[in-house]
Amino acid sequence: MSKSSPIGIFDSGVGGTSIWKEIHSLLPLEHTIYLADSDNAPYGEKPQEEIVRLSIKNTEKLLAMGAKIIVVACNTATTNAIQVLRSNYHVPFIGIEPAIKPAALQTQTKCIGILATKGTLTSALFAKTSDLYSKDTKVIEVVGKGLVQEIEKGNKDSEKVEAMLVDLLQPMIDEGIDYLVLGCSHYPYLIPTLKKILPSYVKIIDSGMAVAKQTKLILQSMDLLTSTSQMPPQFFTNGDPKILRNLITSEENNYEVTYLDF
Ligand code: SIN
Repeated sequence: MSKSSPIGIFDSGVGGTSIWKEIHSLLPLEHTIYLADSDNAPYGEKPQEEIVRLSIKNTEKLLAMGAKIIVVACNTATTNAIQVLRSNYHVPFIGIEPAIKPAALQTQTKCIGILATKGTLTSALFAKTSDLYSKDTKVIEVVGKGLVQEIEKGNKDSEKVEAMLVDLLQPMIDEGIDYLVLGCSHYPYLIPTLKKILPSYVKIIDSGMAVAKQTKLILQSMDLLTSTSQMPPQFFTNGDPKILRNLITSEENNYEVTYLDF
Protein backbone atom coordinates (compact mmCIF):
# COMPACT_ATOMS: atom_id res chain seq x y z
CA MET A 1 0.00 0.00 0.00
CA SER A 2 1.40 3.42 -0.96
CA LYS A 3 0.34 7.04 -1.40
CA SER A 4 -0.59 6.31 -5.01
CA SER A 5 -2.87 3.40 -4.10
CA PRO A 6 -6.59 4.07 -4.65
CA ILE A 7 -9.31 5.01 -2.19
CA GLY A 8 -11.86 2.17 -2.40
CA ILE A 9 -15.53 3.06 -1.97
CA PHE A 10 -18.44 0.63 -1.90
CA ASP A 11 -22.19 0.88 -1.58
CA SER A 12 -25.19 -1.41 -1.98
CA GLY A 13 -25.68 0.37 -5.30
CA VAL A 14 -25.53 3.75 -7.00
CA GLY A 15 -26.38 5.95 -3.98
CA GLY A 16 -22.85 6.07 -2.57
CA THR A 17 -21.80 8.09 -5.60
CA SER A 18 -23.22 11.02 -3.57
CA ILE A 19 -20.35 10.34 -1.12
CA TRP A 20 -17.86 9.74 -3.93
CA LYS A 21 -18.65 13.24 -5.29
CA GLU A 22 -17.70 14.84 -1.95
CA ILE A 23 -14.50 12.77 -1.68
CA HIS A 24 -13.49 13.54 -5.26
CA SER A 25 -14.12 17.25 -4.83
CA LEU A 26 -12.14 17.42 -1.55
CA LEU A 27 -9.32 15.12 -2.73
CA PRO A 28 -9.15 15.59 -6.53
CA LEU A 29 -5.63 14.16 -6.83
CA GLU A 30 -6.61 10.82 -5.30
CA HIS A 31 -7.39 7.83 -7.47
CA THR A 32 -10.84 6.55 -6.45
CA ILE A 33 -12.44 3.18 -7.24
CA TYR A 34 -16.20 2.90 -6.71
CA LEU A 35 -17.95 -0.46 -6.43
CA ALA A 36 -21.76 -0.56 -6.76
CA ASP A 37 -23.34 -3.82 -5.57
CA SER A 38 -26.63 -2.96 -7.33
CA ASP A 39 -27.35 -6.63 -8.00
CA ASN A 40 -27.90 -7.04 -4.25
CA ALA A 41 -29.60 -3.70 -3.54
CA PRO A 42 -31.25 -2.83 -1.29
CA TYR A 43 -29.28 -3.96 1.76
CA GLY A 44 -31.73 -2.19 4.06
CA GLU A 45 -34.25 -5.05 4.18
CA LYS A 46 -31.70 -7.87 4.59
CA PRO A 47 -30.74 -9.67 7.80
CA GLN A 48 -27.50 -8.53 9.44
CA GLU A 49 -25.53 -11.73 8.56
CA GLU A 50 -26.28 -11.12 4.89
CA ILE A 51 -25.22 -7.46 5.08
CA VAL A 52 -21.95 -8.54 6.73
CA ARG A 53 -21.36 -11.22 4.07
CA LEU A 54 -21.92 -8.74 1.23
CA SER A 55 -19.74 -6.11 2.91
CA ILE A 56 -16.89 -8.65 3.21
CA LYS A 57 -17.30 -9.57 -0.47
CA ASN A 58 -17.06 -5.89 -1.51
CA THR A 59 -14.11 -5.25 0.80
CA GLU A 60 -12.15 -8.17 -0.62
CA LYS A 61 -12.77 -6.97 -4.16
CA LEU A 62 -11.49 -3.48 -3.32
CA LEU A 63 -8.46 -4.89 -1.49
CA ALA A 64 -7.67 -7.02 -4.54
CA MET A 65 -7.74 -3.76 -6.53
CA GLY A 66 -5.11 -2.32 -4.16
CA ALA A 67 -7.24 0.01 -1.97
CA LYS A 68 -5.28 1.84 0.76
CA ILE A 69 -8.45 2.81 2.65
CA ILE A 70 -12.09 1.73 2.30
CA VAL A 71 -15.07 4.04 2.52
CA VAL A 72 -18.28 2.19 3.36
CA ALA A 73 -20.57 4.62 1.53
CA CYS A 74 -23.70 2.88 2.76
CA ASN A 75 -25.41 3.61 6.07
CA THR A 76 -26.87 0.12 6.29
CA ALA A 77 -23.49 -1.58 5.75
CA THR A 78 -21.78 0.81 8.17
CA THR A 79 -24.23 0.32 11.00
CA ASN A 80 -24.40 -3.47 10.53
CA ALA A 81 -20.94 -4.52 9.37
CA ILE A 82 -18.18 -1.98 9.99
CA GLN A 83 -17.11 -3.49 13.31
CA VAL A 84 -16.60 -6.89 11.67
CA LEU A 85 -14.67 -5.29 8.79
CA ARG A 86 -12.41 -3.34 11.16
CA SER A 87 -11.58 -6.41 13.20
CA ASN A 88 -10.83 -8.59 10.15
CA TYR A 89 -8.82 -6.31 7.84
CA HIS A 90 -5.87 -4.04 8.43
CA VAL A 91 -6.80 -1.11 6.18
CA PRO A 92 -8.68 1.82 7.72
CA PHE A 93 -12.46 1.89 7.19
CA ILE A 94 -14.50 5.11 7.06
CA GLY A 95 -18.21 4.64 7.67
CA ILE A 96 -21.28 6.79 7.19
CA GLU A 97 -23.80 7.33 9.94
CA PRO A 98 -26.88 9.57 10.03
CA ALA A 99 -25.87 13.09 11.11
CA ILE A 100 -28.10 13.13 14.19
CA LYS A 101 -25.61 15.13 16.26
CA PRO A 102 -25.57 18.40 14.25
CA ALA A 103 -29.36 18.26 13.83
CA ALA A 104 -29.96 17.64 17.55
CA LEU A 105 -27.57 20.45 18.51
CA GLN A 106 -29.16 23.00 16.18
CA THR A 107 -32.88 22.24 16.28
CA GLN A 108 -35.06 25.07 17.58
CA THR A 109 -38.30 23.08 17.63
CA LYS A 110 -36.63 20.21 19.55
CA CYS A 111 -38.00 17.85 16.95
CA ILE A 112 -35.95 16.27 14.14
CA GLY A 113 -36.76 13.70 11.49
CA ILE A 114 -34.60 10.84 10.26
CA LEU A 115 -35.23 9.08 6.98
CA ALA A 116 -33.25 5.84 6.67
CA THR A 117 -33.53 2.16 5.84
CA LYS A 118 -34.99 -0.43 8.19
CA GLY A 119 -31.50 -2.00 8.49
CA THR A 120 -30.01 1.28 9.71
CA LEU A 121 -32.81 2.26 12.07
CA THR A 122 -32.90 -1.15 13.78
CA SER A 123 -29.10 -1.46 14.17
CA ALA A 124 -27.44 -1.33 17.59
CA LEU A 125 -24.98 1.35 16.41
CA PHE A 126 -27.83 3.64 15.35
CA ALA A 127 -29.69 3.07 18.65
CA LYS A 128 -26.57 4.08 20.59
CA THR A 129 -26.16 7.37 18.68
CA SER A 130 -29.87 8.16 18.72
CA ASP A 131 -30.11 7.57 22.51
CA LEU A 132 -27.28 10.05 23.10
CA TYR A 133 -29.13 12.92 21.45
CA SER A 134 -32.78 12.12 22.06
CA LYS A 135 -32.86 13.16 25.73
CA ASP A 136 -34.37 16.59 25.10
CA THR A 137 -35.14 16.27 21.40
CA LYS A 138 -37.91 14.27 19.79
CA VAL A 139 -36.36 12.06 17.09
CA ILE A 140 -38.89 10.85 14.53
CA GLU A 141 -37.57 7.84 12.62
CA VAL A 142 -39.14 6.91 9.30
CA VAL A 143 -38.18 3.96 7.07
CA GLY A 144 -37.85 5.14 3.47
CA LYS A 145 -39.55 2.00 2.21
CA GLY A 146 -39.11 1.49 -1.53
CA LEU A 147 -37.01 4.61 -2.15
CA VAL A 148 -33.68 2.85 -2.73
CA GLN A 149 -35.31 0.49 -5.25
CA GLU A 150 -36.68 3.46 -7.23
CA ILE A 151 -33.33 5.28 -7.23
CA GLU A 152 -31.62 2.06 -8.36
CA LYS A 153 -34.08 1.92 -11.29
CA GLY A 154 -33.16 5.49 -12.28
CA ASN A 155 -36.49 6.94 -11.10
CA LYS A 156 -35.27 9.50 -8.56
CA ASP A 157 -37.18 12.39 -10.14
CA SER A 158 -40.42 10.51 -10.85
CA GLU A 159 -43.94 11.46 -9.74
CA LYS A 160 -44.16 8.09 -7.98
CA VAL A 161 -41.16 8.95 -5.77
CA GLU A 162 -42.59 12.40 -5.03
CA ALA A 163 -45.88 10.81 -3.91
CA MET A 164 -43.98 8.29 -1.74
CA LEU A 165 -42.04 11.11 -0.10
CA VAL A 166 -45.19 13.14 0.61
CA ASP A 167 -46.64 10.13 2.47
CA LEU A 168 -43.42 9.51 4.40
CA LEU A 169 -42.74 13.12 5.36
CA GLN A 170 -46.18 14.51 6.19
CA PRO A 171 -46.29 12.97 9.70
CA MET A 172 -42.88 14.50 10.49
CA ILE A 173 -43.96 17.90 9.18
CA ASP A 174 -47.13 17.69 11.30
CA GLU A 175 -45.01 16.91 14.38
CA GLY A 176 -42.98 20.10 13.78
CA ILE A 177 -39.52 18.98 12.62
CA ASP A 178 -37.09 21.71 11.62
CA TYR A 179 -34.28 19.34 10.54
CA LEU A 180 -34.46 16.29 8.30
CA VAL A 181 -31.47 13.94 8.53
CA LEU A 182 -30.83 11.79 5.47
CA GLY A 183 -29.66 8.44 6.82
CA CYS A 184 -29.03 6.65 3.52
CA SER A 185 -26.40 7.49 0.94
CA HIS A 186 -29.01 7.15 -1.85
CA TYR A 187 -31.21 9.92 -0.45
CA PRO A 188 -29.12 13.01 -1.34
CA TYR A 189 -30.36 12.33 -4.89
CA LEU A 190 -33.86 13.12 -3.61
CA ILE A 191 -32.97 16.60 -2.32
CA PRO A 192 -34.58 18.51 -5.23
CA THR A 193 -37.88 16.66 -4.61
CA LEU A 194 -37.55 16.94 -0.83
CA LYS A 195 -37.18 20.71 -1.16
CA LYS A 196 -40.44 20.86 -3.10
CA ILE A 197 -42.28 19.00 -0.31
CA LEU A 198 -40.74 20.32 2.91
CA PRO A 199 -41.61 23.74 4.34
CA SER A 200 -38.74 26.14 3.66
CA TYR A 201 -37.74 26.30 7.36
CA VAL A 202 -36.86 22.57 7.41
CA LYS A 203 -33.13 22.08 6.84
CA ILE A 204 -31.82 18.92 5.21
CA ILE A 205 -28.59 17.36 6.49
CA ASP A 206 -26.59 14.57 4.91
CA SER A 207 -23.23 13.11 5.86
CA GLY A 208 -21.28 13.28 2.59
CA MET A 209 -18.92 16.14 3.42
CA ALA A 210 -18.23 14.78 6.91
CA VAL A 211 -17.21 11.43 5.38
CA ALA A 212 -14.91 13.16 2.88
CA LYS A 213 -13.24 15.22 5.64
CA GLN A 214 -12.77 12.14 7.81
CA THR A 215 -11.21 10.26 4.86
CA LYS A 216 -8.74 13.11 4.35
CA LEU A 217 -7.91 13.26 8.07
CA ILE A 218 -7.18 9.53 8.31
CA LEU A 219 -5.06 9.49 5.14
CA GLN A 220 -3.13 12.53 6.43
CA SER A 221 -2.52 10.90 9.80
CA MET A 222 -1.15 7.77 8.06
CA ASP A 223 0.94 9.84 5.61
CA LEU A 224 -1.01 8.26 2.73
CA LEU A 225 -2.32 11.39 0.98
CA THR A 226 -1.01 11.66 -2.55
CA SER A 227 0.42 14.93 -3.85
CA THR A 228 0.57 14.01 -7.52
CA SER A 229 -2.30 13.66 -9.95
CA GLN A 230 -3.57 10.10 -10.31
CA MET A 231 -5.68 8.10 -12.74
CA PRO A 232 -9.27 9.19 -13.42
CA PRO A 233 -11.91 7.68 -11.10
CA GLN A 234 -13.05 4.15 -11.90
CA PHE A 235 -16.59 2.89 -11.44
CA PHE A 236 -17.64 -0.77 -11.38
CA THR A 237 -21.18 -2.08 -11.05
CA ASN A 238 -22.86 -5.47 -11.18
CA GLY A 239 -26.05 -3.66 -12.20
CA ASP A 240 -26.89 -1.44 -15.17
CA PRO A 241 -23.88 0.84 -15.95
CA LYS A 242 -26.20 3.36 -17.64
CA ILE A 243 -27.99 4.23 -14.39
CA LEU A 244 -24.75 4.82 -12.51
CA ARG A 245 -23.31 6.81 -15.43
CA ASN A 246 -26.35 9.13 -15.41
CA LEU A 247 -25.68 10.03 -11.78
CA ILE A 248 -21.99 10.90 -12.17
CA THR A 249 -21.89 12.47 -15.61
CA SER A 250 -21.71 16.24 -15.80
CA GLU A 251 -20.81 18.78 -18.48
CA GLU A 252 -17.16 18.60 -17.41
CA ASN A 253 -16.90 14.85 -16.84
CA ASN A 254 -17.85 11.75 -18.72
CA TYR A 255 -16.36 8.93 -16.64
CA GLU A 256 -16.36 5.36 -17.75
CA VAL A 257 -18.55 2.85 -15.87
CA THR A 258 -17.70 -0.83 -16.27
CA TYR A 259 -19.91 -3.84 -15.68
CA LEU A 260 -18.22 -6.30 -13.33
CA ASP A 261 -19.60 -9.59 -12.07
CA PHE A 262 -18.60 -9.66 -8.39
C1 SIN B 1 -29.85 0.13 1.04
O1 SIN B 1 -29.13 -0.59 0.35
O2 SIN B 1 -30.89 -0.32 1.53
C2 SIN B 1 -29.53 1.58 1.27
C3 SIN B 1 -28.13 1.98 1.43
C4 SIN B 1 -27.87 2.83 2.65
O3 SIN B 1 -28.35 2.51 3.73
O4 SIN B 1 -27.13 3.85 2.55
